[in-house]
Amino acid sequence: MTKRIEFRYAISAILIVVSAPAGAADGFATAPINYRDSVPENCISRLQSGLDSGAKKLTYDADYGYLKSVLTSLSVPVESQMLVFSKTSLQRRRISPRTPRALYFNDDVYIGYCQAGEVLEVSAVDPELGTVFYTLEQKQSDAPQFERRIDKCVICHSSSRTGGVPGHVVRSLFVDAKGQPQFSAGSRNVDHRTPIKDRWGGWYVTGTHGSQTHVGNLTISTNRLAERSDNSQGHNIEDLSDRFRVDKYLTPHSDIVALMVMEHQTLVHNRLTNAEFTTRKALYHEQTLNDSLGNDPGTRLESTTQRIHSAGDRLVEALLLVDEAALSGRIRGTSEYANQFAESGRRDAMGRSLRDLELNTRLFQYPCSYLIYSEAFDSLPGEMRTYVWQQLWDVLTGEETTEKFAHLSSADRAAIVEIIRGTKNGLPEYWTTGPTP
Ligand code: HEC
Repeated sequence: MTKRIEFRYAISAILIVVSAPAGAADGFATAPINYRDSVPENCISRLQSGLDSGAKKLTYDADYGYLKSVLTSLSVPVESQMLVFSKTSLQRRRISPRTPRALYFNDDVYIGYCQAGEVLEVSAVDPELGTVFYTLEQKQSDAPQFERRIDKCVICHSSSRTGGVPGHVVRSLFVDAKGQPQFSAGSRNVDHRTPIKDRWGGWYVTGTHGSQTHVGNLTISTNRLAERSDNSQGHNIEDLSDRFRVDKYLTPHSDIVALMVMEHQTLVHNRLTNAEFTTRKALYHEQTLNDSLGNDPGTRLESTTQRIHSAGDRLVEALLLVDEAALSGRIRGTSEYANQFAESGRRDAMGRSLRDLELNTRLFQYPCSYLIYSEAFDSLPGEMRTYVWQQLWDVLTGEETTEKFAHLSSADRAAIVEIIRGTKNGLPEYWTTGPTP
């Protein structure tokens, strides 16, 4: 009996440690991740090396500072522009419904811009460190410098919202006419699982979506929280020019399709980081235990396997859009984002791509994330990559039949396998030689 109580104590002590708020002193500041002390290697560190050597240049613009030049240098499309007017981020003094913050992204990096902001804000996908944050001063300089930022950012960018890793956040909440969040009216995290009706509070949304409702393009007055249920003025908006000075931005859009793709992508990026960190930590812990128990080095412990599988399963679920919110009408953006996104996809011999959008009932035609092509995916630790490929194979060939994956029809599964085979290098042997489902 006593033993059992002791055991319970030990377990709850562990749980407390594991679920402690993920501020600076959490599980990634120390070995083996060494988030602070490791040298990042990502599109921003590469751009900075180019600037330092003189191989690359950024040009300063009187209106937008370095924004245009940074987007061009990183191949981030201006069509990805999304506008958020809630005072929920770093430069909150600059943000309001009349002066929204603009965000831009591609598969590897996200950029934040505020009118008259002191800095551009950057979150970059870093294969080893998950998400690495930078700011670039919006002041003309002969030697522009992306400064790596940690504490100033992880205070909001690492919590249960991101799955405990330095990552990306997307929220939907209700704000007043000044952009001040009204938390009493509710708020939630957003990703591809969030029902459309709950999305985009605090964001502008341009595009049409039939009779589906959402809470974008909406401000509420503090004392009338009930207003949140009526957003008839905020639906199917294609022009925002009566709401704020759209000419102060690179485009007049806050494209609905860009928002939906970003919401999918941030979840996958956070799960990739979680998979990366969990595996490296589990292997590190195993090595320490093997040393202290006198085991042969490399002895695989059951707990290591379990940790890798559980983080891997969560990644696979995000990659295959498990629990994706259903659409009940055609979604159409206002910018060229959707075309541009699809056009940049690798295509198989039949012309199919994982970047083909469906947008009537769901986001993608073939529900498997295009982030399987990303550097972050390819550089997952070997143990994790092996497991994830095997799981994907088992699901897509019908070996794994749990209810979770019921949204994938047999035609979907076959198409995804064929597309991956035709477009992805370095697949495990059984992927290329196994029968098509
Ligand atoms: C007060 C909390 C807060 C702080 C501090 C903060 N952010 Fe954010 N950030 C947010 C929220 C919330 C979002 C989601 C969009 C929104 O509501 O504006 C966001 C979104 C972003 C995005 C868009 C994509 C993503 O990664 O989610 C970038 C880029 C970004 N922040 C960069 C930074 C950088 C760089 C720092 C530190 C210098 C920073 N942020 C500090 C709250 C914060």
